[in-house]
Amino acid sequence: ASATGEVAPPQAAPAAQAVTSEPLTILYGSQTGNAEDIAEQLKERAEAAGLSVNVYDMLDYKPKDLKKEQNVIVCVSTHGEGDPPDNAEELHAFIFGKKAPKLDGLRFSVLAFGDTSYEHFCQTGKDFDTQLEKLGGERVADRVDLDVDFDDAAEAWIEDVVKVFGDTLGGTGEQPHPTVTAMPGAAAAPAQSTYSRKNPYSAEVLDNIVLNGRGSDKEVHHIELDTEESGLVWEPGDSLGIIPENDPAVVEELIAALKLSGDEQVTGIDGEVSLEHALTHQYEITTLTRPFVEKYATQAQTDALDKLLAEDQREALTEYMDGRFIVDLVEDFPISGLTGADFVRLLRKLPPRLYSIASSYAANPDEVHLTVAAVRYETHGRPRHGVASVQLADRSDDAKLPIYIDSNKNFKLPSDDAAPIIMIGPGTGVAPFRAFMEEREERDAAGDNWLFFGAQHFLTDFYYQTDWLRWRKDGLLTRMDAAFSRDQEEKVYVQDRIRAAGKDVYDWIERGATIYVCGDANAMAHDVHEALLELLGEHGGMDAEAAAGHLKQMQKDKRYQRDVY
Ligand code: 2AM
Repeated sequence: ASATGEVAPPQAAPAAQAVTSEPLTILYGSQTGNAEDIAEQLKERAEAAGLSVNVYDMLDYKPKDLKKEQNVIVCVSTHGEGDPPDNAEELHAFIFGKKAPKLDGLRFSVLAFGDTSYEHFCQTGKDFDTQLEKLGGERVADRVDLDVDFDDAAEAWIEDVVKVFGDTLGGTGEQPHPTVTAMPGAAAAPAQSTYSRKNPYSAEVLDNIVLNGRGSDKEVHHIELDTEESGLVWEPGDSLGIIPENDPAVVEELIAALKLSGDEQVTGIDGEVSLEHALTHQYEITTLTRPFVEKYATQAQTDALDKLLAEDQREALTEYMDGRFIVDLVEDFPISGLTGADFVRLLRKLPPRLYSIASSYAANPDEVHLTVAAVRYETHGRPRHGVASVQLADRSDDAKLPIYIDSNKNFKLPSDDAAPIIMIGPGTGVAPFRAFMEEREERDAAGDNWLFFGAQHFLTDFYYQTDWLRWRKDGLLTRMDAAFSRDQEEKVYVQDRIRAAGKDVYDWIERGATIYVCGDANAMAHDVHEALLELLGEHGGMDAEAAAGHLKQMQKDKRYQRDVY
């Protein structure tokens, strides 16, 4: 990289001097693109070190080809209850299936993406790691499990694997400085902005409106941020990354629980700062994770905590962590003499939060819109807040927020403007579809558009109602089916509307429609998937296996895309 942080052109890398003929295959699978980004960075670094590299989205990779490979690196994330992301599902099933090949002679390494606040942390990465070995592969570099603040650990892992595979495959072995990550502090911002996760743009909040009517159980905010001077560019389907800060009241409560003042100097992310500053801006101080409890226990030496961490007490600890935050642990198991400096060493970096963008750059390049549900509840006698959502809801007036674009190539409008689309987005899941419609309106796209929306009540929860009704009237929105779950005795959900309109949905699919699902990953996305399988059976005459195959093929053809969380 040059001093200005420009990305070196590919021919600047010494890839041309590659001395190896044995290729390295990188397979990535992730829902939002983190694993893909790292896979691409790894590729550049490996090529620069003289290796010949192929990178594949797992979805585009023929599982059977695995037995021809000699060097494989897997970058994969985990979702929900330890499940593989959509694009990794098939390969994951294949290596565990009856047709899994012997992989003697395969050298491999796995990089796993996850979140330590989930019980099944990095499970899919662990699955690949153990199964590739079971099939005969040789693990040449240990698996690394990445938490949400993965940048540094991923960087270190890249260096390791490039060295390990470089040694066996005989590249030049030289590892030039990383060329991919944009460097912070680039002098001039070119047209396409250099702002990134590591170097976010500081954006002003222009508007903050509650979308729910009085009496609703929900509190969803429409937020507009100023991007006019930023050079930020995005496509419908992309997300906005926000680097949040912690609620001052929560920081204060934690400092009090620690029996400290907040003025203590500690070593923060980049140098000496006050404890209060570190806890406000740099570290995650709410979510309680198993690794945190383990690290905390090494300082505490209390029998009660050791007991909770005993091997046979997994369940008890899970139960303890449920609904509790870091402050509860500190209060329940105080450590006398614990300094602020000791404490921050136990914490993980405050990770950015991602929100699906609700507006189109083509239609309005000066602003980015979000649809944010304020997360507020109470557990164990204490009010709890979502970090970013409540910051946006309550404390964003006159504030500047660090933002960047997190692109998502797995949630994109069809390149053919004439192609029909079906959008399924209950609750805040409707956000990207507002961006889709703005974009298609701006482009005069001829394709038909069908929205399935769901919410509790028509009167109070019909987000962006005026937009949808205007687009219905204009004819841009060809059809809209809404499921207001609590406006009648029986619950009605989007999947019920999909089933009821099964014949038409099937016809649209036959006409080449792409199906998009956004919103809740656990219940909704699963139930919608089932409804789609059913209608393929009922109206397409497919048996269960054929219907599943059909949806899988649509996924491969990018005609079934999900952004679920
Ligand atoms: P509920 O709150 O009445 O259960 C947006 O949050 C909408 O999604 C609400 O109407 C909510 O209904 C509904 N919802 C809840 N569970 C769902 C599921 N499994 N599938 C689809 N929609 C669901």
